[in-house]
Amino acid sequence: MAEHESQEFGKADFVLLDSVSLEEFMANLKLRFEKGRIYTYIGEVVVSVNPYRAMNIYGRDTIEQYKGRELYERPPHLFAIADAAYKAMKRRNKDTCIVISGESGAGKTEASKYIMQYIAAITNPGQRAEVERVKNMLLKSNCVLEAFGNAKTNRNDNSSRFGKYMDINFDFKGDPIGGHINNYLLEKSRVIFQQEGERSFHSFYQMVKGGSESLLRSLHVSKDPTAYSYIKVGGQVKSSINDGADFKAVADAMKVIGFTPDEIQTVYKVLATILHLGNLTFGVDGDTTLIENSKVVAVIGVLLATKEENVGKALLYRTVATGRDVIDKQHTTQEASYGRDALAKAMYERMFCWIVGRINDVIEVKNYDAKVHGKNTVIGVLDIYGFEIFQNNSFEQFCINYCNEKLQQLFIQLVLRQEQEEYQREGIPWKHIDYFNNQIIVDLVELQHKGIFSVLDEACMTVGKVTDEVFLQGLNSKLAKHAHYTSRKLSPTDKSLEFDRDFRIRHYAGDVVYSVVGFIDKNKDTLFQDFKRLLYNRLESTHTCYPLSSHPSLSHGPTAAFYDALITTCYPLSSRPPPSLSHGPTVAFYDALITNFSSPLFSPAPLFLPLFSSSPLFLSLRSSNPVLKMMWPEGKLSITEVTKRPLTAATLFKNSMIALVENLACKEPYYVRCIKPNDVKSPLLFEYERCRHQVEYLGLLENVRVRRAGFANRQEYPRFLQRYKMISEFTWPNHDLPSDKEAVKRLVQGCGFEHDVAYGKTKVFVRTPRTLFCLEEQRDEMVGRIVLFLQKVWRGTIARMRYRRMRAALIILRAYQHYKVKSYIKDVNRKFKNVRSMKDHGKHVKWPTPPKVLRKFEEALRSIYNRWWAWTLIKDLTPEEKLQIRAKVATLEALKGQRPDLGLQRTWEGNYLKRDSPDTASSFTLVSCELQRKDKFMRVLFSCNVRKINRFHKAEDRAVLITDRHLYKMDPLKQYKPMKSIPLYNVTGVSVSPGKDQLVVFHTKDSRDLVVCLQGMVPAGDSRIGELVGTLLSHFKSEKRKLQVNIASPIQCSMNGRKCTVIVEPKINQSQPDFTKSRSGYILAVPGN
Ligand SMILES: Nc1ncnc2c1ncn2[C@@H]1O[C@H](COP(=O)(O)OP(=O)(O)OP(=O)(O)O)[C@@H](O)[C@H]1O
Ligand SMILES: [Mg+2]
Repeated sequence: MAEHESQEFGKADFVLLDSVSLEEFMANLKLRFEKGRIYTYIGEVVVSVNPYRAMNIYGRDTIEQYKGRELYERPPHLFAIADAAYKAMKRRNKDTCIVISGESGAGKTEASKYIMQYIAAITNPGQRAEVERVKNMLLKSNCVLEAFGNAKTNRNDNSSRFGKYMDINFDFKGDPIGGHINNYLLEKSRVIFQQEGERSFHSFYQMVKGGSESLLRSLHVSKDPTAYSYIKVGGQVKSSINDGADFKAVADAMKVIGFTPDEIQTVYKVLATILHLGNLTFGVDGDTTLIENSKVVAVIGVLLATKEENVGKALLYRTVATGRDVIDKQHTTQEASYGRDALAKAMYERMFCWIVGRINDVIEVKNYDAKVHGKNTVIGVLDIYGFEIFQNNSFEQFCINYCNEKLQQLFIQLVLRQEQEEYQREGIPWKHIDYFNNQIIVDLVELQHKGIFSVLDEACMTVGKVTDEVFLQGLNSKLAKHAHYTSRKLSPTDKSLEFDRDFRIRHYAGDVVYSVVGFIDKNKDTLFQDFKRLLYNRLESTHTCYPLSSHPSLSHGPTAAFYDALITTCYPLSSRPPPSLSHGPTVAFYDALITNFSSPLFSPAPLFLPLFSSSPLFLSLRSSNPVLKMMWPEGKLSITEVTKRPLTAATLFKNSMIALVENLACKEPYYVRCIKPNDVKSPLLFEYERCRHQVEYLGLLENVRVRRAGFANRQEYPRFLQRYKMISEFTWPNHDLPSDKEAVKRLVQGCGFEHDVAYGKTKVFVRTPRTLFCLEEQRDEMVGRIVLFLQKVWRGTIARMRYRRMRAALIILRAYQHYKVKSYIKDVNRKFKNVRSMKDHGKHVKWPTPPKVLRKFEEALRSIYNRWWAWTLIKDLTPEEKLQIRAKVATLEALKGQRPDLGLQRTWEGNYLKRDSPDTASSFTLVSCELQRKDKFMRVLFSCNVRKINRFHKAEDRAVLITDRHLYKMDPLKQYKPMKSIPLYNVTGVSVSPGKDQLVVFHTKDSRDLVVCLQGMVPAGDSRIGELVGTLLSHFKSEKRKLQVNIASPIQCSMNGRKCTVIVEPKINQSQPDFTKSRSGYILAVPGN
């Protein structure tokens, strides 16, 4: 906080001084300077003392501290004033300006740069590319303008020799979108002359010292600045400036801004031309004035892209139009030198203005529509040359000091007078403060008819030879009685003034003696028209010297072919119709030619090139430099064209100053008042007298008095309420008092500040910043709470909204699920409704895809359906069929996937002997009935012919009959005589192979396994192993007994208690399966294929 800065640094605001006296003011200023506090406020004005050393107070962290803060919240700083201007612009839509004043070397330019850096740093949070581009251009433009417009003077190594006012345009979001630079009176006399210890503009030294070998070679310039008389003096001056490095920085900046390589090249050419011009010397030969070093002329011709003769002619002659005639008048050596210097100065000034114009082209606001984008607001930054007093003060110093008078007047008007007027307007008692009003000096300079500028203009307009002395006499007679003007004639005893040369003005900042030498010339600012045409490259001589008819290449007069060639070459480019040539070429025709030839679009038809290239008309025009043309548009005028008398330099300057002040006055101003602590650029020295003088003439003490007598802050009642209404219960959120004024009163009373405020008609006036600060603190605290409250409410609202949304989503979700379930059930219902009547009981019906939640349900449903379907299939079967189904199921369970062809597709008949051997069927039936009677079996499970191994390892044909009680072995050859019967309860298991063969081994408890291979099937190839195993298993199951079923190869078995194996082997020539003995048991050979 400004006020929280420790007491050891003195008072951060001069308004807080214990008493307002010059001594106290100076003591505070000195103390703060010595403690490294270079900025101090007077209310909202920043007083800045040049520290002459690098200060660590402009970094990113400092910028953050000031961003968006109120002025009095942080120690005084340029950033605070920049932020205040920015806030006023952004929040209140006001155009603002920051006026930086102070004498030469006080730190104005540096301050303006820090302000621009600050604005660039705090804007464009969205990093928009276009805005970044604009910011970069604005910052880069400084570097270029300083190179061409600043110079080392005895007061300042980087003194601005021109005035600069830069507008920065902002869009409604507060981001910079463009800008505009106004430049004021460049001190162009510096181009040809500098005082002892000073230099010309930096640009010359930068180019000479920093330009590459090849650049300098192309410009015919050497690396030694002392070789050029215009900058010779400055070339010897030692300084800390690094011209070489600066050259590169400036060249880069120009490139970034958008100068084309041609344009940059032309700038170097202009600089080089000026250097060469300075070395030109004139002499006489009889009556003829001539150039002594004509080589230089040739070089200039090359640089200006024109012919050497043209340069020489323009330097030595003046083309004068007398009526219709045009004659060349020769200069005297003096006139020629004058012309040369005037040319050098004018070329530099034109180039400077052109550079500013180019920068403006680039940075100007483009595509901005106020209707779409909102109001475009402006912050202006004024950095103009400071008040200066030199050993010899000429026209330039006079203008510069007048400019400072104008700005001081503006300051008085805005800060002092307006303040007093406001108190009156608001009806607040006011103690009058005396201050020096410098309007009288401003009038002395600019008043119509009586002012110094008027006298000067009058003198310049006088016909005949007018001298500077005549002008001084005019001043003496008109201003004899003026309190701020004197001269030796008016004060004969004053030896500091020279007779017929000096006059003295008592400026607000001190007395300055001006020498009138050069005033008339500088005010007239004459440049012979010939030079303008030379630089535009319009050469009168081409008209007069080479009329087409006497063109050397057309000695017999122009032929029709020549005109044709000209017309075809020129007129395709022109929208104008070709001129009629029936009466010979007219002036208009030449004009058309010249315009076309000098157009960058021009390219003669190849056919006619030889014709054109030999023509002097073409030679003199073809190489003209378009950039130079742009700098010299008036050179286009023909000598015969009468121009209006141009305004004098003084009038132009006065008008520009009046316009500037008007422009500033309509903006909300912020002031930076710069003070130069010493003349030796020391960071330690505080020259008391020097500083006191500046404090006095800047009117800073009056400023403090006005500020103290008055109030530190004033705000309109509604605005004040808007800002602080949360502090008081009477005003928050809205008051019900009769007026805002009453509400403010109540609020202020509540805080206990009545003694420190006054109530105006429309505004409340707060005397001390401390009160405002307290109000701000309370506001901050309340704002915190309000924010918390708003956050609470808002969070609740958001949570409720989220809850409602979730609930709605849930309801929708449920409804949807419900719908999906319902439609699934409906679908199933529809599809399976008629399955009973379907042939396959719905087996072909495609199940609809269930929603996710019904996947388990679907599984259950499918299983129910399958059970129903199975039940439907079996419910009508006969007991036999049921037995068969059971047997088949048992087969499936035991053999599925382990043996091929289980015979499931056919009907299982079981008792096959009758079918397979019809011839012996009756014998079998007989035996079978006998056995039934004897063994009382209920049913035949299986019967078939088999091949069997006997006790002696021999294979025999037999038959087996399996009933529900026994397994009988029979001899088919003996009418099925039963040979052996094994009770079924003795059978423990059966083994089969995994192949197609019909091998089966019945395992018995007594280890006398029966190894057989079914055979003699009808149809042949019938596979009955599946049926045999299934029927046995089903039967054993129905008797609740276990039957072991093995599928193996080889099959392990026991023959009469001896373990052996049976292997199935396919054999190629085997017609019927048959057993043979093997080492480990038996081999069943089956037909192989
Ligand atoms: N804030 C600062 N920090 C460090 N050095 C500074 C500061 N301000 C000024 N200076 C030093 O003072 C010199 C002169 O400052 P500057 O060029 O800004 O003066 P000016 O007021 O613009 O003078 P003129 O009227 O001649 O243009 C700078 O080159 C720099 O060395
Ligand atoms: Mg400056």
